[in-house]
Amino acid sequence: MQNLPEVQLAVTALKQKLSEAGRTGRAAKPRVGMVLGTGLSGLTAAMRDAVRVPYTELPGFPLSTVDSHSGAFVLGDVAGIPVLAQQGRCHLYEGYSPAQVCMGVRVMAGLGIGTLVVTNAAGALNPQFDAGSLMLMTDQINFTGTTPLAGPNVEQWGPRFPDMSCIFDPELRALALESAAMLGIRLERGVYIGVHGPQMESPAETRMYRQWGADAVGMSTVLEVLAARHLGLRVLGVSCLSNKNLPDCMAPVPLEEIIAVAGRAGRQLERLLLDMVTKF
Ligand code: HPA
Repeated sequence: MQNLPEVQLAVTALKQKLSEAGRTGRAAKPRVGMVLGTGLSGLTAAMRDAVRVPYTELPGFPLSTVDSHSGAFVLGDVAGIPVLAQQGRCHLYEGYSPAQVCMGVRVMAGLGIGTLVVTNAAGALNPQFDAGSLMLMTDQINFTGTTPLAGPNVEQWGPRFPDMSCIFDPELRALALESAAMLGIRLERGVYIGVHGPQMESPAETRMYRQWGADAVGMSTVLEVLAARHLGLRVLGVSCLSNKNLPDCMAPVPLEEIIAVAGRAGRQLERLLLDMVTKF
């Protein structure tokens, strides 16, 4: 079910906190929002005049129960442009509903963002992709079994049957490839499949996802992207490939390794996004 009143309350509370911390007028109106996944929270360190509002200060905002995610909105300037980051997210596998998983994106839209950057850690299904690389999301498969758009449609968010023929903005994708080439960062292109989790994939599942056309698999992002497209936001998605996920040579992947490798890829992604922000 939809949670418009909760989202509106959280928007009001976030605006209030930002203004109490001195971000008012233009400085309180982000054009760009970012969802920072595992290993990516460092990006906020590059923001100037940043204000951090922990999720605990926003009524009804879901808190991540996963240690690798810190939970706060951070509004700050990158190259003079106000950027709002969602540092840490909650997941379906934690027991949250699709509406809760997408609350951050809807709150950021309530603050006025027009562009959303989503990031995540993912396992590489394409055997040509290396762990530690970045992947530009060209499309997605929602295999979570659910959607944030079920229930009565909230007309002020978007249409009943939103189009998904071109989910990730072609101009932003071209910009990302251009920036990556200029910075000497390897940026693969591929399809992300979002699964419910929390269990990792069996070899049979991994083989099936690859046969379906997916290049990377993860447990987040797809629902937030659906909510963002419903809201009419321009979306850019980048995965940090934290491990190889190949059916014929599968081995357990400890969470510590996923976090460490995603963190290394994340530093490249930070360079990429800092370069791109002024061109959004
Ligand atoms: N599978 C699912 N989710 C993930 C993986 C994976 O291999 N790596 C990082 N998140």
